[in-house]
Amino acid sequence: MTDFLCVPGQVLRGHISVPGDKSISHRFVMLASIAHGRSTASNLLTGEDCISTVNAFRSMGVNIKLSGTCCVVDGVGKNGLKAPKEPLFLGNSGTTMRLLSGLLAGQGFDVTLEGDESLAKRPMDRVVLPLRAMEAHIYGIGERINPPLQIKSSRLHGATHVEKLGSAQVKSSLLLAGLYAEGTTTVIEKKRSRDHTERMFDLFGARFTKEGNILKVDGTSSLDAVDDLLIPGDISSAAFFIVAGLIIPGSGLVIRDVCLNPTRIGILDVLKQMGAHIEIKVKRSAGEPCGDISVRHSKLRAVTVSEDRLPFLIDEIPILMVACAFAQGQSCIMNASELRVKETDRIESMATGLRALGAEIAIENDTITIMGKTQLQGDAEVESYDDHRTAMSLIVAGLASEKAVTVKNTGCIAISYPDFVDDLRLSLGA
Ligand code: S3P
Repeated sequence: MTDFLCVPGQVLRGHISVPGDKSISHRFVMLASIAHGRSTASNLLTGEDCISTVNAFRSMGVNIKLSGTCCVVDGVGKNGLKAPKEPLFLGNSGTTMRLLSGLLAGQGFDVTLEGDESLAKRPMDRVVLPLRAMEAHIYGIGERINPPLQIKSSRLHGATHVEKLGSAQVKSSLLLAGLYAEGTTTVIEKKRSRDHTERMFDLFGARFTKEGNILKVDGTSSLDAVDDLLIPGDISSAAFFIVAGLIIPGSGLVIRDVCLNPTRIGILDVLKQMGAHIEIKVKRSAGEPCGDISVRHSKLRAVTVSEDRLPFLIDEIPILMVACAFAQGQSCIMNASELRVKETDRIESMATGLRALGAEIAIENDTITIMGKTQLQGDAEVESYDDHRTAMSLIVAGLASEKAVTVKNTGCIAISYPDFVDDLRLSLGA
């Protein structure tokens, strides 16, 4: 068990590059595995979640080489995956389990998907029920269809789904199943969510169309390998440095080569609305837009974030709660029920941690109200609840507090950002 001691009074300076985007890394490995021929990518995230995806495809006969963050995948074609000898263990990765449920539902073999204690508690009904409407045979535990999931070989039929949650995992699972279904699979997005699967479908040459919020994929699609994909930095990882730079007096830093996909930059929009000094320099806009983000210490004001904006910053809400705790006035994050079903209940984990540091937070029906203060007293020991984003958010809050804070059990950070502590120390020492 690793704990992190946050020593206040240090500033963040210089420039850093955060690791490759997690969502894009998962999707690259998945699509490259079922494409024809050799695909290559650089700056792939090698955090534990993406390694779960890599290992799953290796177990299904795909040759995947990783050297550092360079990844070479010898795709086996859409129908070339082999039945794994054992259940696929997917660790903590909800994205892997939900996307694989769709991708594997129409294979010619049975497969079981398992996960760690946290993943075992996460509801899979959101993907399994619409997949069943495509004739998938997937079974799990209880009403919410918790893992392990048993996927039985099945012939899928295209169907039309209305996606109301604003979940990119659900949308992507259905689109991936659509690659294997007879006819066309349509997803109507009621709430827009991150669109990496759609962009990557175009890149790998799937028969895919998008008109407004109507997405269609054809089951006759076959995918071609992609060469030299450069995966941009993950804004969800950059967000910890952005907020640290904003709330720690004297700080100023640049985070380089971050993915600026419009469906992911909700955190930048909200922070700017709070009065944050953030400058963005777009470097390339083809494929996934990408650029440098400069931040400096800012006096933040309270903000109200409505429910419709949440899919664009869903993973950044824990660190946004930290920003709100240091902003002047009363902030409100409306109807954040989706946070309850992440790696842990992030409303509870963050409210408990921030309150221990001296923040005033009220929760009513999944709406989070935070009374901002110029500084939190700190002087506490707080839990990560084995959730990577809770751990990193509380470390940032601890560094900005008046007195030292210990964040317990921070090993989970390796799920999405194995070098976080090293990068942080570098910026603190710069
Ligand atoms: C992800 C989508 C989001 C996000 C998760 C990654 C993805 O989940 O929280 O970390 O890669 O599609 P939901 O789509 O369920 O909100």
